Amino acid sequence: MRIDVVSIFPELFDAPLRTSLLGKSIAARRLEVNVIDLRAHGLGPHRSVDDATYGGGAGMVMRPEPIFTAVEEVAEESSHIVLLSPRGTRLDQTGVKRLAGHGHLILICGRYEGVDERVAEHLADDEISIGDYVLAGGELAALVVIEAVSRLLPGALGNEGSLADESHTGGRLEYPQFTRPASYRGWSVPEVLLSGDHGAVERWRRDQAERITRERRPDLLGP
Ligand code: ADE
Repeated sequence: MRIDVVSIFPELFDAPLRTSLLGKSIAARRLEVNVIDLRAHGLGPHRSVDDATYGGGAGMVMRPEPIFTAVEEVAEESSHIVLLSPRGTRLDQTGVKRLAGHGHLILICGRYEGVDERVAEHLADDEISIGDYVLAGGELAALVVIEAVSRLLPGALGNEGSLADESHTGGRLEYPQFTRPASYRGWSVPEVLLSGDHGAVERWRRDQAERITRERRPDLLGP
């Protein structure tokens, strides 16, 4: 999969793209990420990318021309163009799977008080928020999208089984996990996990996932 990112802070992507799963996916060529400096497409001698808001009001709005030029330079017929914004559809694991199905994503990171509406209306296929809170810009949101999507690429996780049981797959949060030591500071690992009874372990995990989901995210269980 290929992902192009349009941002005025390309350096924000350096360490995350070099590290851990993302670093490995890129090194293994499962994933190619190209960060485009929006300022290179800025207007005039100051390479301006923003301007005052029509109608009056505080704050600057990102101009459409640099964004359109930057995106159109890399877009192909099959590209899926996403604007990251707190106003977008809220991303969940189903949305991540959908994004992972595209061969080419273009992620546009908004900044300042907003992005000229013509970008959302005439350039982006999708406007996505990573949660109901406001970040200073779309860069961290784009990294969240890149990491969540990259985990789903074939071969990304050593053990594909870990995808089947994890939270937000199958409508349940994940059951608790333990490793050694069996007793730590007097806190013991649940007996059933040491029993060797696979059926009992399965039932315990299912009950725990159900309990945790009911307590923390009853909305996932439905009406
Ligand atoms: N930009 C600012 N806040 C955001 C959010 N919650 N999701 C995506 N992009 C954003």
